Amino acid sequence: MADTHTSGSGQRWSNRWLFVLAAAGSAVGLGNIWKFPYIAGENGGGAFVLIYLVCIAAVGIPIMVSEVLMGRQGRSSPIHTMRKLAKQSGRSSRWSILGWMGVLAGFLILSYYAVIAGWAVNYILASGSGTFTGASAEAVGQSFNEFLASPIELIAYQTGFLALTIWIVGRGVTKGLEAAIRWFMPLLFVLLIALLVYAFNSGGFDQGLAFMFDMKWEAVTPESWLIAMGQAFFTLSLGMGTMMAYGAYVPDDAHLGSTVVTIALIDTFIAIAAGLAIFPIVFANGLEVAQGPGLTFVTLPLAFGQMPLGSLFGALFFLLLSFAAITSAISLTEPALSFLVEEYNAKRQRVAVSLGIICWVLGLGTVFSFNLWSDVTFVGGLTFFDTVDYFSQNILLPLGGMLITFFAIWLLPRDLVDKQLGIEKAWVSVLWRLLAGVIAPLCVLAVFVSTIWPLLAGLLM
Ligand code: TRP
Repeated sequence: MADTHTSGSGQRWSNRWLFVLAAAGSAVGLGNIWKFPYIAGENGGGAFVLIYLVCIAAVGIPIMVSEVLMGRQGRSSPIHTMRKLAKQSGRSSRWSILGWMGVLAGFLILSYYAVIAGWAVNYILASGSGTFTGASAEAVGQSFNEFLASPIELIAYQTGFLALTIWIVGRGVTKGLEAAIRWFMPLLFVLLIALLVYAFNSGGFDQGLAFMFDMKWEAVTPESWLIAMGQAFFTLSLGMGTMMAYGAYVPDDAHLGSTVVTIALIDTFIAIAAGLAIFPIVFANGLEVAQGPGLTFVTLPLAFGQMPLGSLFGALFFLLLSFAAITSAISLTEPALSFLVEEYNAKRQRVAVSLGIICWVLGLGTVFSFNLWSDVTFVGGLTFFDTVDYFSQNILLPLGGMLITFFAIWLLPRDLVDKQLGIEKAWVSVLWRLLAGVIAPLCVLAVFVSTIWPLLAGLLM
């Protein structure tokens, strides 16, 4: 198999399980490990987990199936796949714009993802060397602030993380992506289990369990549904062609429906397990649950610093976060990378390096958002980082996801879709079209409108 040069379209995952692991590697990321546990706790615990599962089933899975099936049908980069499929079904070649949107979203997301992942890498070292052992809350908070205030340090870790990502993707599907995934995913499972055992013995397990699973329906608001949907969407890496690009390498005999359900189950399992590893440690130390970066980079190091073997397990936690981030980062490059390799018949490594440089430069904006440019704001008072984050996650991804399912259900020939999915019975086909062609896009539309509405209102005021 021509792995490092010529067209990317001849490449295949070695077997169905490697696709499952690769897609799960893309899905499991920063979103699962700090975002999910916190929002579940705040939006009604077990009640939110139920809502989230409904969103995964009703929206996430149909969109992912659509993306993967289109990828496998087109067998090329998302841009070329869209061009091919549009032609095959007699539609305008302008549908390839969907592929371009994905490429853009990939650049934007990776540019900041690498910066944040760099923080996790820094914290492996900081925790491991005992910086937080016995430290006070002020000291831990201050050390995070000092780190953020130093562009040089942030750039150093961003560069290291990005360089590793680029090195891996440059090696191609089997030698790069698969090799990394074969190592990182099992290690990630082992680390998570070790942390779960540690959390179980921390003395705060019951409280952590209650925080995440008690059915607090009174804490569920209409907004919780939107949050659950947005999370389902982001955590499964949908809407930008990542799954389409990975789908292009799926062997012909893999059953798509069950494969996608497996991926969604792994992703959900890890999100829940992450919560069960984090909260007991926080509660065992009598700390408050803080949001986002604060929870991961201040509260947790503080909690680990108070515990026996805390520097070891703290370092393991950040190692887990870094592994989760790198398998996601790899997947963010694939839509653009596979396109450039096909279009210009270029060497994967060379293209990978060029992509890396672009993301690195864009990422400087995120680095400076935390120090030099912290006062520079764009639309709606957002910093550069917040703007890039908002535009990619709340605009490009939902728009992409909606259009992808719409195309897969209403524009692709029906028999082709049924064949790709192995659907034989007419009623299954109807049910699938109802779910993926009506329910899923309408739900995404609701999220989309509700997230951009405040922005539009802000612009018009
Ligand atoms: N799913 C990843 C997470 O939970 C992030 C991610 C990776 C992603 N690739 C993506 C999100 C593509 C959207 C699209 O952190």
